[in-house]
Amino acid sequence: MGSANRDEYQSELLQAQAHIWNHMFMFINSMSLKCAVQLGIPDIIHSHGKPMTLSQIATSISVLHPTKVHCLSRLMRILVHSGFFERRKLGQSNHEEGFVLTNASLLLLENNPFTLTPLLLCMLDPIITQPWEYLSAWFQNDDTTPFKTAHGRMLWEYAGQEQRLNKIFNEAMASDSRLIAHVLITECKGVFEGLKSLVDVGGGTGTVSKAIAKTFPKMDCIVFDLPHVIADLQDCENLKYVGGDMFHVIPAADAILLKWILHDWNDEECVKILKKCKEAIKGSEGGKLIIIDMVMGNQNGDDEESMETQLLLDMLMMVVVTGKERKEKEWAKLIFSAGFSDYKIIPMFGLRSLIEVYP
Ligand SMILES: C[S@@+](CC[C@H](N)C(=O)[O-])C[C@H]1O[C@@H](n2cnc3c(N)ncnc32)[C@H](O)[C@@H]1O
Repeated sequence: MGSANRDEYQSELLQAQAHIWNHMFMFINSMSLKCAVQLGIPDIIHSHGKPMTLSQIATSISVLHPTKVHCLSRLMRILVHSGFFERRKLGQSNHEEGFVLTNASLLLLENNPFTLTPLLLCMLDPIITQPWEYLSAWFQNDDTTPFKTAHGRMLWEYAGQEQRLNKIFNEAMASDSRLIAHVLITECKGVFEGLKSLVDVGGGTGTVSKAIAKTFPKMDCIVFDLPHVIADLQDCENLKYVGGDMFHVIPAADAILLKWILHDWNDEECVKILKKCKEAIKGSEGGKLIIIDMVMGNQNGDDEESMETQLLLDMLMMVVVTGKERKEKEWAKLIFSAGFSDYKIIPMFGLRSLIEVYP
């Protein structure tokens, strides 16, 4: 091997090594972010109202030990690198730097109406992360999900038995739904015009339905979910909570909404749910099913990052539940298998789309 070839070979080897290291340690990004959120660092910087120095952050979160203040600077450095904080000079004549928030960390503030902190803390809770330890074992056993291998039961069953999981999961879904509800009402109001009734199947604690019910006070809305999810929730004006099982029977309405439901289930289960939805749609003119979910490869700005998000969510659906993310062809197959006649995809919510489905 000539020296030029040897140099090239060695540089390729080192690149491969770096690639493995980055992937091996990717979880450190998630865990560093979780740590900053648990310490309340985004809220502390926000309340400070101007760039905040490391020692000010350290004092605010009671990190008093000098070596740990240095460790905090390393935590902040990786989070600057991953785009959650930025460094700013404190003043023109001052060389000292402080930390400020970015668009991503603004979305983690406790008081931001669209905060994603509950979603982040739920997805990084040991109950949700532990099944990944069992993924390889699951490939060689008969369990339906790695979650089942890890916890001996399915997610929905576990949430019905463990109040803490029920609470953090419902809060996580509600935090995701607040932004979707806002876009839905501002950008897609027309989808709901003329409907007299709507059932939000698997509607969680009702974040999306509440926004629809408020915007359309003459529409009767039902949030339909498992009894442990809707227990203790109060009906209000044109919104009612009904407990039940969507595989059994769904209350009748002009329109059925399925937000982030079908990606939780495999194809066979989806066709069963879709058939129950079709039975529930009243015969009236304009009756329809409204699905909010991801259509893989159908995003505005189909860049590398959104492709990675789609692949990550698809794996999450495989590990935690029996579901998957689907391409348009796969959606069409499900929709027609359940006996619906047509559909229209409206890409609306970043990575997710609204799919109108007609009986
Ligand atoms: C991923 S969450 C989505 C919640 C809500 N649609 C949202 O996007 O915020 C799935 C929901 O389906 C509900 N669910 C699971 N199995 C169900 C069943 N058999 N019948 C009714 N709801 C069910 C869960 O309790 C959970 O609230």
